[in-house]
Amino acid sequence: MAKVKSIGILTSGGDAPGMNAAIRAITRSALCEGFKVWGIYRGYDGLINDEIKPFTSESVSNIIQRGGTILKSARSKAFTTPEGRKKAYENMKSHEIDALIVIGGNGSLTGARIFAEEYDMPCIGLPGTIDNDLYGTDITIGYDTTLNTIVQCVDKIRDTANSHERIFLVEVMGRDAGFLAQNSALASGAEAAIIPEDNTDADQLEHFIGRGIRKSKNSSIVIVSESPKCGALYYAERVKKEYPQYDVRVSILGHLQRGGSPSARDRILSSRLGAGAINAILDGQRNVMIGIRNDQIVYVPFTDAIKKSKPINKDLITVLDELSI
Ligand code: F6P
Repeated sequence: MAKVKSIGILTSGGDAPGMNAAIRAITRSALCEGFKVWGIYRGYDGLINDEIKPFTSESVSNIIQRGGTILKSARSKAFTTPEGRKKAYENMKSHEIDALIVIGGNGSLTGARIFAEEYDMPCIGLPGTIDNDLYGTDITIGYDTTLNTIVQCVDKIRDTANSHERIFLVEVMGRDAGFLAQNSALASGAEAAIIPEDNTDADQLEHFIGRGIRKSKNSSIVIVSESPKCGALYYAERVKKEYPQYDVRVSILGHLQRGGSPSARDRILSSRLGAGAINAILDGQRNVMIGIRNDQIVYVPFTDAIKKSKPINKDLITVLDELSI
C-alpha cells in the first residue's frame, strides 16, 4: 500500500455541532504528523466540482466553538452515480490527495465505503450526526449538544403547558432513531416518548393515555420522534378525535436542533475522534469509522457501522413510565 502523504477532509449529510471541532482536530493532528491537508467544500459535491483548497493551521483557527461546518455540507446525488465518483477520484488524483476523511452519518459513510471499494482509496469516517444512530460508537458528534438544546426548549414549553393545563406533543429530530426523543424525555421529565424503535406496544399513544394522567398533574409533555407519517401532528389529530377532553398543542422543534455552539462533551469527543482518524491512517487502517466505546477509541469497519443497527436501551422506556407517574 502506497504511503499516505496528503489527506482530504469533507463534511457530508446533515450538519452537527462539533463538526468544526473535528475538522480542526484532523487538520492539526495531520499537520503535526507531516501530512498535507486539503479542505473539500460542500461534501462529495465539492469533490466532484473540484472545490478543494489547501488547509493550514490558520484555516481552522477560532472554529472549535462554532456550530455548523466551515466546509459546508450537502447530500450529494451526483456521488451516488459511477460517473460522479469517477470525477471525484480524478480530482483527488490531480491534487495528489491519497486518503479521504469523511465526517457524516449513515448515508455519508455508505458513500465512502463504495468509493473506497471502487478506487482503492483509503477512507476514514467520523460519526457526525445528531441522531446518534451509528453502530459501534457509544455516541456521535452533535448528539450531546442537540440533546441539551431539546431539553432547554422543553423546559420552556413546560411553563406554558402548565399555565394552560395542556398536553404538548413536542416533535424532535431522528426520523429512524429514537435516541434524541427517549433521552430528552428522560432529561426533561416528560411524561412519555414516542419512538420508532418501540414496537412492544403497537399503539404508543393509547399506552400513554391508558396509563392515565394523574389528576394532580395539570399538564403533560410527550416527546415524539419525527416521522413523515406519524409525527406530532398525526398524534395531535388523534388526541383531538379520540380524547376530546384534553387540550392539545404541537411544537415542532425543527432545525434549531442542529444549530448552536457545541457542548464541551461534543468538543472533546470531536477532538479525540479527529486525532484518532490520523492515528488510524498512521496505523495503516482504511475503510473504518473511528468510534468511542467505554471511553476508548475504536476502529469500526464501515460495513458494521452502516449496516448493523444500534440498539436503543428498551429498559429506559420502563424507567420513563415509572418516573412520570
Ligand atoms: O440525519 C440528521 C437529521 O437532522 C435527521 O434527524 C433529520 O431527519 C434530517 O437530518 C433532516 O434533514 P434535512 O436538513 O435535509 O431536512
